[in-house]
Amino acid sequence: MKIAILPGDGIGTEIVAEAVKVLQALGLKFEMEQALVGGAAYEAHGHPLPESTLKLAKQADAILFGAVGDWKYDKLDRPLRPEQAILGLRKNLGLFANFRPAICYEELVGASSLKPELVSGLDILIIRELTGDIYFGQPRGRRTSPDGAFAGADEAFDTMRYTRPEVERIARVAFEAARKRSKRVTSVDKANVLETFQFWKDIVIEVHKDYPDVALDHMYVDNAAMQLVKEPKRFDVVVTGNMFGDILSDEASMLTGSIGMLPSASLNTQNQGLYEPSHGSAPDIAGKGIANPLATILSAAMMLRFSLNQTEAADRIEAAVKKVLAQGYRTADIYSPGTQKVSTAQMGQAVLKALS
Ligand code: IPM
Ligand code: MG
Repeated sequence: MKIAILPGDGIGTEIVAEAVKVLQALGLKFEMEQALVGGAAYEAHGHPLPESTLKLAKQADAILFGAVGDWKYDKLDRPLRPEQAILGLRKNLGLFANFRPAICYEELVGASSLKPELVSGLDILIIRELTGDIYFGQPRGRRTSPDGAFAGADEAFDTMRYTRPEVERIARVAFEAARKRSKRVTSVDKANVLETFQFWKDIVIEVHKDYPDVALDHMYVDNAAMQLVKEPKRFDVVVTGNMFGDILSDEASMLTGSIGMLPSASLNTQNQGLYEPSHGSAPDIAGKGIANPLATILSAAMMLRFSLNQTEAADRIEAAVKKVLAQGYRTADIYSPGTQKVSTAQMGQAVLKALS
């Protein structure tokens, strides 16, 4: 089993280091190889996704990814910006199915900005289509001048686009996932305004015919954003496009107390996967040792479960995370009075200790 380790930028390096320690402590035989990605790769090789990094990612059974991005690269030509590395990995490896579970651990109910009764017991699975939509429309990246003035251009546009096979396969992923859960899927669209999402909705309805045992409903994205904070527990599996999924998953993460808790898995048709926390590189807190490594550690658990077929090891990690929360360890983002504030490394250490 080969794992590519791509820590990236900002807090990426700090949180991935903790997840790697946890993986190493499992007593399983992995080959791990590390490479630069994002701004770090740009500094060293002049490109956010160098050939060598892409090659390593393609060869690996799974990829553990930290985060990319820093404001200091905002003025770079778009193809050279750190974010292009993760988009390039997703596209090149065909990682179309992004799983973003939002689970509110009982110990963190108080850390959510919503009332405890709204989030207690929350367990939502957001399934975000990851390789289509406006993220990958044509043309893109028209900014030609680094001064930010668009060098005389008087318009800019991105195209929103989905193909039938793209919508069909993500709909199947959602219905299959729902079969293993409470058999309910909410498809989020903007069919009242956008042709792309009327198309999406129609195809989801078609695919649903093969899954009569699963209940399907549809919701406009603006309403979904509202319902997520009004009555989040009405959702179980939510399936949506790339752009809406990006936004709604950030929103859902806060229901769980902190975006620092939310892992994610991005899979292709061969179940090869990239695993990353849903949060970004947080340059404002990078290097301070205060970032929450739990989303990355939980992403490593998803990797063991989905791509490496090590269910037992995945269970062990998830149980260890529950245990450290029960023991009262909290990084700054989930701290509340009466609990014990710990650093990134101390949290990693606590998980290691709880593994046995
Ligand atoms: C995410 C991130 C990325 C996205 C960025 C870093 C390109 O926000 O994974 O949610 O927009 O998909
Ligand atoms: Mg995002």
